[in-house]
Amino acid sequence: AKPQDLAGKKVLVTAGPTRERIDPVRFISNDSSGKMGYAVAEAARDRGAEVCLVSGPTNLPAPPGVTIVRVESVQQMLEAVLQRMADSDVIIKTAAVSDYRPKTVAMHKLKKQGELTLELEKAPDILQTVGQSKTHQFVVGFAAETEELLTYAKDKLERKNLDMIVANNVLMDGAGMGTDTNVVTILTRDGEVVPLEKMSKREVAEKIWDAVIAKQSARAIS
Ligand code: C5P
Repeated sequence: AKPQDLAGKKVLVTAGPTRERIDPVRFISNDSSGKMGYAVAEAARDRGAEVCLVSGPTNLPAPPGVTIVRVESVQQMLEAVLQRMADSDVIIKTAAVSDYRPKTVAMHKLKKQGELTLELEKAPDILQTVGQSKTHQFVVGFAAETEELLTYAKDKLERKNLDMIVANNVLMDGAGMGTDTNVVTILTRDGEVVPLEKMSKREVAEKIWDAVIAKQSARAIS
């Protein structure tokens, strides 16, 4: 049996991609499988936490013993997160949220024509919203990058007012979207930088929870 070191904690995890509708049959999305977020949710459950998983569309089965809220768009994910934020102790945002969305959603299927230009607007940044308005919550973000990994991750940690960020280079072998393994570096607010070996997403999830618990108890004592 796992140590129940998250007993009594309420955890909110987001996972998977989002879909931004173009018309009733088309959307913009990305390659996220949801595996990392589901692993984070399952690990927390097995360590005794009460877990809510806000999930974009994935092919993964709903994890037993976890409250799952299925959403499609950034807007729906934002609303689901804000609704549960006050009641959460730890928020981990693994979802690959769309940065842009179509400015207007066509009511009917777009007809084939010559050239088509899609106008995109910035989607709301859920993590930034959570980071800026958090009170007691410990907030963890993910940073999927293809270059300058640690620089961008540190910048995100500051800009989005996070307590921790998990950085992964999505171009690396055995890392990133769709794979069962990941190679990540955990960075914390206090400047600690912990690179991890390649391991299964479940093992990465356990390491993340180890780090969150270590930082939270340090915060509770100081
Ligand atoms: O800035 P970037 O999108 O790379 O940051 C990644 C982190 O921000 C992830 O934790 C992701 O879940 C979160 N995010 C978000 N809302 C967005 C974009 C990203 O919550 N619109």
